[in-house]
Amino acid sequence: MKEIGKPFLQLITLVLSLLVLASLLVGVIGFVIYLSYSGVNLPAFKEQPVVAQVVNTPVSKALMDPSGMWQAPDWASVDTEPNADEIKYGRELIANTSEYLGPNGKVKKISNGLNCQNCHLQAGTVPLGNNYSAAASTYPKVRGRSGTSEDIEMRINGCFQRSLNGGVLPRDSKEMKAMVAYMNWLGQDVPKGEKPVGAGIYEVPLLDRAADPVKGKLVYDRQCVACHMADGQGLAKADGTGYTYPPLWGEHSYNQKAGLFRMSRFAGYVKANMPFGATYENPMLSDEEAWDVAAYVNSLDRPTRDFPNDWPDISKKPMDHPFGPYADEFSEEQHKFGPFKPIKEAIAKLK
Ligand code: HEC
Ligand code: HEC
Repeated sequence: MKEIGKPFLQLITLVLSLLVLASLLVGVIGFVIYLSYSGVNLPAFKEQPVVAQVVNTPVSKALMDPSGMWQAPDWASVDTEPNADEIKYGRELIANTSEYLGPNGKVKKISNGLNCQNCHLQAGTVPLGNNYSAAASTYPKVRGRSGTSEDIEMRINGCFQRSLNGGVLPRDSKEMKAMVAYMNWLGQDVPKGEKPVGAGIYEVPLLDRAADPVKGKLVYDRQCVACHMADGQGLAKADGTGYTYPPLWGEHSYNQKAGLFRMSRFAGYVKANMPFGATYENPMLSDEEAWDVAAYVNSLDRPTRDFPNDWPDISKKPMDHPFGPYADEFSEEQHKFGPFKPIKEAIAKLK
């Protein structure tokens, strides 16, 4: 009896321990699934590069309190306007600029294939998405770049020549009038002279160091490459009317005199809006990541263009205008990448 019982007992023990192991495994897997649904952050299974961890700060805090934020008027109400058709055409041109005015534009061929909306999200209506809320209320205004009073038509043509690296629209063209009509409609509730909360671009707090293109490339490879591609050229639409994902550098991108070529504009735009889907309420990049990715993208090739009449008074140049001469002592290199705090202080003293 003993001789037969021993192997039998061993078999029972083996089966029992297998059962225990299996239920343990089920328990662990169940717990992991529970955790991932309950929103707890699990450690990534993939090895992260060492430097990447330094910049990979989780971000979840809203950049601004949503109460009091500017909101675009209800689009459905546009039909009550006497010039509803003009306003609608203006919005259409801003959303689908390339189709009308790009390299194969059906109205004119005067720009590089970008849409205004690529940088002025949802036709310029998104809080901190480079919106047009202050366009009607603050123009005409004297700007340091031109040294003259600019009206809204001049400002629009500024983006055509720089951000869309192209030509200008005649002031009295149907297209220019439509864009202006749309911006006036958007800003109808903003009192003259005022800039509403959430207008334009978020100001990312300044770093104590220079923005770093090498760290920026790591951010790019992790957070941007899926859409804007490794070569930065994005994804063109098959029908040639523009981009699904716009290019970030190279010959089809904005030129070196465009707003986004300034580090603070790029970092601020991206911080509140990229990777696509991020918002000021749900930003996805840390401040360092935003500055560093700006440094990476803006250190790669893009069109150059001379505007000899820019900045007639050099003391009006912003801290991050990367072309001298300057009224202060800092180098072009520091004006491009920072650290910006000392420059900002010097500029404040000059005033
Ligand atoms: C590559 C990005 C980009 C594209 C494309 C672009 N813009 Fe801009 N635009 C900017 C930036 C950056 C600013 C400056 C924002 C700031 O400094 O706060 C700006 C500012 C403006 C302003 C001034 C807003 C204000 O409140 O002062 C207007 C108006 C404007 N753009 C119109 C246009 C129009 C119209 C188009 C299309 C023809 C266009 N932009 C395309 C990046 C772009
Ligand atoms: C999921 C896709 C996606 C990801 C990821 C993404 N973007 Fe974008 N990006 C877009 C789209 C789409 C637009 C144009 C938005 C529109 O037209 O509504 C855009 C526009 C832009 C623009 C302005 C237009 C231009 O071509 O200059 C910049 C700058 C930009 N993205 C930077 C970044 C950076 C930096 C990252 C990484 C931190 C990033 N994006 C990640 C999809 C993406």
